[in-house]
Amino acid sequence: MSSTSSNTVRADQIWLDGKMIQWDEGQVHVMTHALHYGFGVFEGIRAYKTHDGRLAVFRLREHIQRLFDSAHILMLKMPYTENELFDACLELLRKQKDRFANGAYLRPVAFMGDGAMGLGAVNPTRVAVTAWDWGAYLGDKGIREGIRAKVSSFTRMHVNVNMVRGKITGQYVNSILAKREAVLAGYDEAILLDISGFVAEASGENIFMVNKKGIIKTPPLSSPILDGITRDTVLKLLRDSGREVEEVTFTRDALYISNEIFFTGTAAEITPVREVDNRTVGAGKPGPITQFVQETYFRTVRGQEPRYAEWLTYV
Ligand SMILES: Cc1ncc(COP(=O)(O)O)c(C=O)c1O
Repeated sequence: MSSTSSNTVRADQIWLDGKMIQWDEGQVHVMTHALHYGFGVFEGIRAYKTHDGRLAVFRLREHIQRLFDSAHILMLKMPYTENELFDACLELLRKQKDRFANGAYLRPVAFMGDGAMGLGAVNPTRVAVTAWDWGAYLGDKGIREGIRAKVSSFTRMHVNVNMVRGKITGQYVNSILAKREAVLAGYDEAILLDISGFVAEASGENIFMVNKKGIIKTPPLSSPILDGITRDTVLKLLRDSGREVEEVTFTRDALYISNEIFFTGTAAEITPVREVDNRTVGAGKPGPITQFVQETYFRTVRGQEPRYAEWLTYV
């Protein structure tokens, strides 16, 4: 695990509280409430270079909707409308079109700003949108050959302790603990179980598995998982292709004896898992369902699947 200059992110401009500013001006005060208590919401969105050389944001409307749902869960008052933030994302990419000609990762974040302190404080919400280049989150080799995962000693959130339908900044401490534990132990990613011991999700991805009978499974939305937009995309791609997917709970040992496992997420895209807790998954390389999902997903985000054209917003 490293945080070196090689993965330091940077671009030219930031949208902050309604204005375009230079990257280096994107500062907030140390008394920012969210910095102390993690009271904020965010999104991760990708824009892709499409097959015809344009730039398109994938499922922008759904991401903005989830951002507002997350804020609603927290009762974090949003000072902008959904349309204003939708436009801010596009505007940020338009202003940096050359830099992001090959794609971008967009990060809207809304958080309680400075003013009063303490848990009862209600300060004005600050909103920023940043964008940067972000390659394969779990590595190019990971996308091609699959990664090694470890079941975490940290349990995924309980539905009445954290708000699992929200993408809430403070909740990511749980993910970071799991991710660091896994990486320090020599694995690429952590898989977290729910409080009853069933598989929930990875630190920043949803999980799918294919068992020996060829049945595709993913944990249901009643599990403590993020309602992933990539998960939703993959469910549609699979079902539209005539394949059935069961949204059911399963145990960690079901993963050990599965034929295929893959993670889904905006950052991680479709990442195959070739090993869990040192047990080889299937043939130890991406299987046919994983390959189908990967290929169809990348064709979709690059505008090569006309039936899903409505998911793309061209910049
Ligand atoms: C904990 C967690 N689960 C799942 C996902 C995948 O969600 P999405 O596909 O909407 O990016 C993410 C990423 O946002 C995440 O952080």
